[in-house]
Amino acid sequence: SEIMLQQTRVETVLSYFEKFMQQFPSITVLAHAPQDDVLHLWSGLGYYARARNLHKTAQMIAEEYAGEFPTEFEQVITLPGIGRSTAAAILSLSMNQRHAILDGNVKRVLARHCAIEGWPGSTKTEKQLWSIAEQNTPQQETAAYTQAMMDLGATLCTRGQPECSACPINNDCKALAQGLQNELPHSKPKKQIPTRHRTVLILSGQDQEFLMQRRPNQGIWGGLWSFPEFDEGQDAIHWCEKMFSKSPNQIEELSELSHTFSHFHLILHPIKISYPTPIHWVMEGDDWVWYKHGRSRAGLAAPVKKLLDQILK
Ligand code: ADE
Repeated sequence: SEIMLQQTRVETVLSYFEKFMQQFPSITVLAHAPQDDVLHLWSGLGYYARARNLHKTAQMIAEEYAGEFPTEFEQVITLPGIGRSTAAAILSLSMNQRHAILDGNVKRVLARHCAIEGWPGSTKTEKQLWSIAEQNTPQQETAAYTQAMMDLGATLCTRGQPECSACPINNDCKALAQGLQNELPHSKPKKQIPTRHRTVLILSGQDQEFLMQRRPNQGIWGGLWSFPEFDEGQDAIHWCEKMFSKSPNQIEELSELSHTFSHFHLILHPIKISYPTPIHWVMEGDDWVWYKHGRSRAGLAAPVKKLLDQILK
């Protein structure tokens, strides 16, 4: 049940747990079941690595511990899918051993009760919370304490709109005293990512075909086609003048387009450069193409496609 409850609510787990225990009433039976049967009974619960790990754990226990669940913390924590908090929960709930737990719910309860700042997923805050969890765990009746902390987090000390007035430990909750119960625990900080500006040259031929350049294999868009890119608008103009030995007769800046990648924001500044008469374009090759919409079969990066659609509209 602790494995099923790792990322799933009690109400959801109940019926799965019943069926699972009916089909696999012992560790040995589970160990010998085909993986497909285990996954089948898990289907709908999600996070299937839990089921695969549970199955592996049963096989390890069958082999190494003759089918008897180990009772030492150091043994339990080596089993697949069982981390520090789950090992502690299993041993305290089933054997009343004194081990501190710190799952997502308990992190929230403790972060509020002690008004701990910071995101509980960060190393520093998590370390602080583990230390509080260790201090608070009683010597006796650890099972009741463990279950109470989990239930508190799942029922009253919920993420949104905690029911502080009904909470049995509201008298010394620091977050409540400071009115911070809705602020704490702090959420994961948004990553600060840099913004890059690039000019893209929109140069069209006679027949709505556009000059495109293949992006180097290494970068994002590796191997895809894009409008020729420059640091600045002036660079694009100079490049055209040099390439076609003529000054363009019209230069137009189109509206910019932004796209966010995991590690940076990209702002594309399209500059449309036109020539009065057809120029002799002698530049198709491995890395250059006159892209004809609907006719050329080249892979375009998503923002490039979006930009092209806008231009053609
Ligand atoms: N989540 C994980 N373990 C739990 C338990 N024993 N009771 C309620 N929620 C839980």
